[in-house]
Amino acid sequence: MGRDRFGLEMAGSAAAVSAYERGLGHLLRFQPEVVTAAEEALVADPGCVMARALRAYVGTMSSEWPDTAAARDLSKAATPTNERERAHLEALGAWTAGDWYGAARRLDALLALWPRDLLALAVGHQLDFFTGDARNLRARVERARDHHDPQAAESAFVDGMWAFGLEECGEYARAEAAGRSAVARHPEDVWALHAFVHVEEMQGRVREGIVDLESRRASWGQGNFLNVHLAWHLALFRLEAEEPAAALALYDGLIHNPSSAGVALEMVDAAALLWRLHLDGVDSGGRFAALAEAWAAKDDTPWYVFNDLHAIQALVGAGRQAEAEHVVDRLARFAREADPALSNQRMVVAAGLPAAHALCAFGRGEHAAVVRLLAPLRHHLSVFGGSHAQRDVFQRTLVESALRAGEGALADQLLAERLQARPASTFAWARLARLRRAGNDAAGALDAEARRAGEVAALRATA
Ligand SMILES: [Fe+2]
Repeated sequence: MGRDRFGLEMAGSAAAVSAYERGLGHLLRFQPEVVTAAEEALVADPGCVMARALRAYVGTMSSEWPDTAAARDLSKAATPTNERERAHLEALGAWTAGDWYGAARRLDALLALWPRDLLALAVGHQLDFFTGDARNLRARVERARDHHDPQAAESAFVDGMWAFGLEECGEYARAEAAGRSAVARHPEDVWALHAFVHVEEMQGRVREGIVDLESRRASWGQGNFLNVHLAWHLALFRLEAEEPAAALALYDGLIHNPSSAGVALEMVDAAALLWRLHLDGVDSGGRFAALAEAWAAKDDTPWYVFNDLHAIQALVGAGRQAEAEHVVDRLARFAREADPALSNQRMVVAAGLPAAHALCAFGRGEHAAVVRLLAPLRHHLSVFGGSHAQRDVFQRTLVESALRAGEGALADQLLAERLQARPASTFAWARLARLRRAGNDAAGALDAEARRAGEVAALRATA
């Protein structure tokens, strides 16, 4: 029985423990070497349960069923040597059986006993993200934070997680301070960088977002699992700056191209970016077609509806409406027939299925139906996971549909809320101008259009 550098007992030879710790360091940095390090630990000592758990969690965190099935087999082959290892295997058992909420809860229980277990914290944090649990994204980290020496290297990574939790809870100033301080200590902490980029996204601070991401490309642009997602964030800022060509260049260079790995978490961002362009009426060429092809090749086991929703965006965007409707039918059948103990069943029933219907309705041009489906859900979409910024694609779909359906009062309300949060939003000012024109308010339309043009000019001036 060895111990890791946090004093936690774990099975494994000295070489295995060392490789496991290296793997954990890569995990905190979202570096793909986490896989090789975990596998090296298992080669050094196949009885290293924590290395097996680490490798298995990388599979479950893909959010895809085939990787999860492999993770299930890997973790089932492990024999725990202590209660902490047993708790990890139970969390993996729950997750791979489809109980994402149960896995998240087990990792919280584990952290109550072993708050310095960074694997449990990092994986639990991602589970809170997958299940859209904003409060626990913050609270889970807060409970563990005091157990780490603020001077120790790992505490900055804990603060990076805390920053993201604070951001998802709307605590923007504290989130930004924690994220920036974490990045100052470890420029390679892409999750902490991601946290304050989210703050900039939520507040519509487009120019600062572009500067922060462009100036730090060396630390996020390659060699980590978050580079596609951060490129997507940069592309969102480029869209708000009315630079669709720049957004598409990011799409082609980093987000989705023929050499992309074809992983769902990256294809989610690809679909959401093209869908936003679609809402803006921008033709993205053959990109939807290529992306839809990639989604259609994916395993179709119902596993995580957040992914299915983005597959539907790609299919609808590519004009493959019948296949998109087929995915919705499959989700409807799953909602009726699947075990309610499956977390994904709850996600589908509570929000995923109506959102999927809404995307298909948008594809058919039935905008009143989109409004009917999405308006009641707009404050409840977090049940299918992701971040506020990722789910904004549905809020934008609702705004656009309200405008096209002639639901002026709703459009007015949604745009007012958006401008309250993001006073510089060109997306909102452009649509407010359309709304005012549709209401024969020529002066209001001119004013909104002037605000839009002013924001674009200000962005150009500081570029
Ligand atoms: Fe994000």
